[in-house]
Amino acid sequence: MSTNTESWGSRVGLVLAMAGNAVGLGNFLRFPVQAIENGGGAFIIPYLVCFLLMGIPLLFVEWSMGRFGGQHGHHSTPFIVGSMAPNGRLWKYVGVFGIFTNLAVAAYYCYIESWTMSYVYHTIVGSFNGSTQASVAQFFTDYTDIGVSHTGIPYEPVVFYVLCLLLNTWILSRGLSGGVEAVAKIGMPLLIIFGIFLAIRGITLTAGTDGAVNDGTVGLNFLWNPQFDSIWNAKVWLAAAGQIFFTLSVGMGSIHCYASYLRSRDDVALNAMGAGWTNEFVEVVLGGAIVIPITVGYLGIDGVREIVASGGGFGLGFQTLPYLFQQWGPILGTLSGVMWFGLLFFAGITSSLAMGTPIMGFLQDEFGWKREKSAWTFGLAVLILGLPTVIFYQEGVFGEYDYWAGTVSLVVFALLEIILFAWVFGMKRGWDEINRGADIQVPSAFKFIIQYITPLFLLAVFVFSLPDIINKLTSEQPMAVHLSRLLLLALFVGIAYLVRVAYYKRLREGRHIIKNI
Ligand code: PHE
Repeated sequence: MSTNTESWGSRVGLVLAMAGNAVGLGNFLRFPVQAIENGGGAFIIPYLVCFLLMGIPLLFVEWSMGRFGGQHGHHSTPFIVGSMAPNGRLWKYVGVFGIFTNLAVAAYYCYIESWTMSYVYHTIVGSFNGSTQASVAQFFTDYTDIGVSHTGIPYEPVVFYVLCLLLNTWILSRGLSGGVEAVAKIGMPLLIIFGIFLAIRGITLTAGTDGAVNDGTVGLNFLWNPQFDSIWNAKVWLAAAGQIFFTLSVGMGSIHCYASYLRSRDDVALNAMGAGWTNEFVEVVLGGAIVIPITVGYLGIDGVREIVASGGGFGLGFQTLPYLFQQWGPILGTLSGVMWFGLLFFAGITSSLAMGTPIMGFLQDEFGWKREKSAWTFGLAVLILGLPTVIFYQEGVFGEYDYWAGTVSLVVFALLEIILFAWVFGMKRGWDEINRGADIQVPSAFKFIIQYITPLFLLAVFVFSLPDIINKLTSEQPMAVHLSRLLLLALFVGIAYLVRVAYYKRLREGRHIIKNI
């Protein structure tokens, strides 16, 4: 039935694709902002603890779940999740999260990705040359207000958004090794080269040259001087946990789907660590050495805090950096701009491609659709879901998607999947799955951590998030926000319905969720 005969071309390709999935806009835009908002060195400790106690365990779990499901012929989260429970009837609906999140996140994520394409273009044609800081900031405000066309291209955000989706769809339609893996093999090395170049610029920034008022090390110290005062602040912990989720792409469903194309004895332990640690290197070492040192170098910590408070995450990356790069002269300034937005583009596309695989796997496995048709369906679905974020960006629709799909859903799904893995599937079998074919000895402490610590940790994160969730639901919101919530709800219900249809189709055709292998 399944038309899905994909596989990874090589181990290097797999790890690069998985690292590309994790390394994304989150590493360069979201991480610095979280760090600034949560006290720099005070953020890093909870962040690293969350990585060890939540991130790594979830990587092991999701990789092994994916490979397990793949052995039973599943490449989408509902049926991967369903195959792990003795009675997959209910559990498969938990897996709906793994399609829902990817579609909803892709909708707004590809919008940011499309900005990076447009900003590469504008850097090259010199749109920022000679601008003041205020006009660079205004450029972004005008850009995201689709009614205004100050940039020269009518409806420019829509144009670039559609282009970006076409590109994603086209790559996805070329398949796993011919598309996704090929892009990761080119994009990841380039991203790292660009990142190292900009990080060196960031670190070596010197007060008094090129208009900088602080050395680059001032920003680095802010980030890396451990401060223990915020350790008891739940808000900092929630931010750290949220960042770990988003950056590692755990609780999303895309890792499961990538891993479902592994063979039964392929290593998961070392590969998962390779991809996970690559992400951390890119996030804390490279990501931490670009935005913060450069912006703090010019504006000081308080100035940067102010921008973050008013302009949010994009205030630094899109509204400030293009102006600061110009202080480095026309050649280096343009080169840095192209590298910065180019880096963001590669980071973004290797992640958005991952978001396409769960729905594609589902359509191919359950309805026998061809890869191309599945890819175009993904592109179309994202376009429909994404247009509201493009058109009503300034009304807060974008933020709504990010909150429900990019934050809350991840915790809920991760909590449920770890309960499934450690307690329903069973920790003994789970541990065997993690270690089968493993090229490293996984420290046995992780058996205990996965069974007890991570679930409790996730439960705590969920419980402590509840007041904020309730507050969001009960507070006054613009109409566009209400409508976007309805749309997300409809999406979730719609996917659940399709899963139900697929399940009954399986029953009729006698295709069991668990194969005897
Ligand atoms: N991890 C990616 C980032 O840091 C985001 C992502 C979300 C990737 C969902 C894949 C799936 O930007």
